Amino acid sequence: MGNKLSGRFVAGMELADALRVAESVNKQGMFVTLDSLGESVSSAAEAHKAADVYHELLDSIRERHLDANISVKLTQMGLALDPELAEAIATNLTEHAKYTGNFVRIDMEDSPLTQVTLDIVRRVNERPDLRGAIGIVIQAYLYRSQADIEQLIADGIRVRLCKGAYKEPAEVAFPRKADVDANYIKLSQTLLESPIYHGLATHDEAMIAAAKSFAKKRDITPSRFEFQMLYGVRRDLQRKLVAEGYNVRVYIPFGREWYPYFMRRLAERPANVLFIAKNMLRK
Ligand code: FDA
Repeated sequence: MGNKLSGRFVAGMELADALRVAESVNKQGMFVTLDSLGESVSSAAEAHKAADVYHELLDSIRERHLDANISVKLTQMGLALDPELAEAIATNLTEHAKYTGNFVRIDMEDSPLTQVTLDIVRRVNERPDLRGAIGIVIQAYLYRSQADIEQLIADGIRVRLCKGAYKEPAEVAFPRKADVDANYIKLSQTLLESPIYHGLATHDEAMIAAAKSFAKKRDITPSRFEFQMLYGVRRDLQRKLVAEGYNVRVYIPFGREWYPYFMRRLAERPANVLFIAKNMLRK
């Protein structure tokens, strides 16, 4: 039942499912980032177990010559229990990624965790041997994001820009979609103009059109940035961008803890509820 429900947005329950899907997405000319699903853990042992899956992923990516990196949530690495534990795990993963020629993207969670997530990523990146092997996510709905992006660029840290997926109060985030969209365009321009390779994560055609036209105007070639989209969302648009010569990375989640991820995807687009329900009724 869970499998059938989540299948639209989740590659499968096992690591092998994720690798199989990653290979097929690579064959379609797109890069991948892999997310082993799971959020807040309740013990250090659980955090280490979650990290082990990512270590296995890094080895498998290298063995299979996949064009894939990993996306990691710090709460799954024990952030809520002990920030030092999460930092130690993030450091280990980044060491492993560096050693295998790979990259760790730290996902961004809700706003009480923004500062601590930034601090951890910055400290890991400050280690000269790890520089460039860790990146972060910035959410356009937060008022603070322009300042954060400027600092991250100064620190040489790669950013994935998204609109933001959590319910946030008006004290910290734009309540109106129009303001979030305007900020997304503004922030994406700051990123595009920087000398660092960043990711623009969105399925919004208006955001994508704005980025393409800004890049063309400023002679920023498509090889200097990438678009990122979620597995199962706007596959038509993913293929179109590839055909036009843009870099596209697909975010592929997998694992048994699919429920919160799945619910965020449904909340983003109520039509998805109907879509999933219809598929459930089909044989
Ligand atoms: P918006 O929500 O305005 O949607 C624009 C259009 O895209 C919709 O009209 C619809 O056509 C399509 N669309 C969007 N979502 C859809 C869905 N679920 N199903 C079907 N169609 C959909 N957030 C976060 O807080 N922290 C993070 O670390 C990340 N990481 C991340 C990685 C990647 C690769 C992506 C693409 C997104 C994230 N996000 C995220 C989620 C992000 O913040 C945001 O919630 C979603 O991407 C939806 O926003 P859009 O930019 O697509 O625009």
